[in-house]
Amino acid sequence: MANSKYEYVKNFEADDRLPPSNWIVVRIDGVHFHRFSSIHEFEKPNDSAALHLMNSCASAMLKHFPDIVFAYGVSDEYSFVLSEKSEFYQRRSSKNVSLFVSYFTSAYVTKWKEFFPNYDLKELPYFDGRAVCYPKAKEVRDYLAWRQVDCHINNQYNTCFWMLVKSGKTKREAQLRLKGTQTKEKNEILLQQFGINYDELPEMFKKGSCVFRNKVEEIVKIDESRNPVKRHKNIVTIDHVDIIGPKFWDEHPYILHEDCSMVNNNYEYVKKFEADDRLPPSNWIVVRILGCDFHRFSSMHEFEKPNDSNALSLMSSCASSLLEKFPEIIFAYGVSDEYSFVLSEESEFCERQASEIVSSFVSYFGSAYVMKWKEFLPDRDLKEVPYFKGRAVCYPKAKIVRDYLAWKQFDCHISNQYNTCFWMLVKSGKTETEAQLCLKDTQEKEKNEMLFCQFGINYNKLPEMFKKGSCVFRNKVEEIVKLDGGIPVKRCNEIVTVDHVDIIGPRFWDEHPYILHED
Ligand code: GTP
Ligand code: MG
Repeated sequence: MANSKYEYVKNFEADDRLPPSNWIVVRIDGVHFHRFSSIHEFEKPNDSAALHLMNSCASAMLKHFPDIVFAYGVSDEYSFVLSEKSEFYQRRSSKNVSLFVSYFTSAYVTKWKEFFPNYDLKELPYFDGRAVCYPKAKEVRDYLAWRQVDCHINNQYNTCFWMLVKSGKTKREAQLRLKGTQTKEKNEILLQQFGINYDELPEMFKKGSCVFRNKVEEIVKIDESRNPVKRHKNIVTIDHVDIIGPKFWDEHPYILHEDCSMVNNNYEYVKKFEADDRLPPSNWIVVRILGCDFHRFSSMHEFEKPNDSNALSLMSSCASSLLEKFPEIIFAYGVSDEYSFVLSEESEFCERQASEIVSSFVSYFGSAYVMKWKEFLPDRDLKEVPYFKGRAVCYPKAKIVRDYLAWKQFDCHISNQYNTCFWMLVKSGKTETEAQLCLKDTQEKEKNEMLFCQFGINYNKLPEMFKKGSCVFRNKVEEIVKLDGGIPVKRCNEIVTVDHVDIIGPRFWDEHPYILHED
């Protein structure tokens, strides 16, 4: 059904394409393999058959997926490296990961009997996976080195641990014996107590397994002059070599080769770096902006403490300008140097691109702040440029938006009460530290009593703007446009209004049901 009314649901499918020109590593790991290995009686600490089975699956992966350039495995995990240039499934993370774990698991089950002819699978094996991006080949090498170092450390520990257990110690005793031991000490335990030379253990246990394509020359035929005709062939190879040092990589420079050439001088590929930061559809969007370095800014401009009515009115006036300018904003709430702007769940403003929405709002707000400065603070010059930072958050339900706003208003009340007490104490001669100590651990009631008894201030009679912050919204008012035969003709007008009302309880929302109306 083309263009049906249901098609909008497609927008929920987030774009999970991994950034271009990055190496991709998909690491898969056996789920609950501790249990799986014990019910299938894997040898401890290393079961050769189990490891060969893993390697055989990895090898099948390289044969099936040409985009995999290298794989490294240890225990129940395998990492698959995809070339930076890979366009496999348009680099979509979930597609890559799911295909890899799925193919690997199928291979594991299919090949099981080949490696465990005398054991039936008693439980289904399965793997989880994730994709990580590395911008440079060097980081891929460091990633692989990290895994190989881990393999060595775990293997040495596990070898000692299981030898101690097999020799009669309990697991707890073996743990205690190994606690805090260094590499050298562990090797000595193995040699002296068990006659095992760690260096002589199989390379597969000590170094894990590498799977890659080895370039080999093959003689395909002998020509008429009896000369061999050779051909290069890539053979998927499993080896247990050091990949921490440079030797392996020097010998196989083509594996992690970084190709800087460009096809036909085509620069267009750089476009792919522009990540899509579209916010999810059908979510309410809250853009919160916050003054940068406003502590300094407010003291430099001698704002009154704790609340400067002019500065707060300036903020609200800027917020009103935003509501006038951007009809998409349905509500705004401000306190101190911050303002939150709510956009409807259906808004398609800036195609919901987060960075564009946030930057437009902070920029317009900052502009208005400078332009209107003289109007609200006529006796002061702007000594420094004010600027704001912002972020966007999505809320799937109107109820959560209300809770967000309630949280902000509650916070406003708590801070205002504290700050009012604090500055009254300071103004009355206390140092800031003394004032802090006075207020430590006091409850709401105590603070109100302090204000009343010490300073004759009734907290409840302080300006609503200080106690409740500022709400900016469109108020629907009826206007009589003309009289038609004595009967008034009315029109509904939306007027951007600043008010300092309670938005924690239901009253305001009941009176303005159209603001956070869910369609
Ligand atoms: P999740 O991955 O979180 O689901 O847990 P897990 O139980 O798979 O543990 P984890 O991946 O951290 O570790 C792998 C576990 O697999 C090890 O702790 C071992 O118990 C087991 N294992 C892997 N290879 C072998 C092996 O060759 N022999 C034995 N005996 N156990 C192995
Ligand atoms: Mg595991």
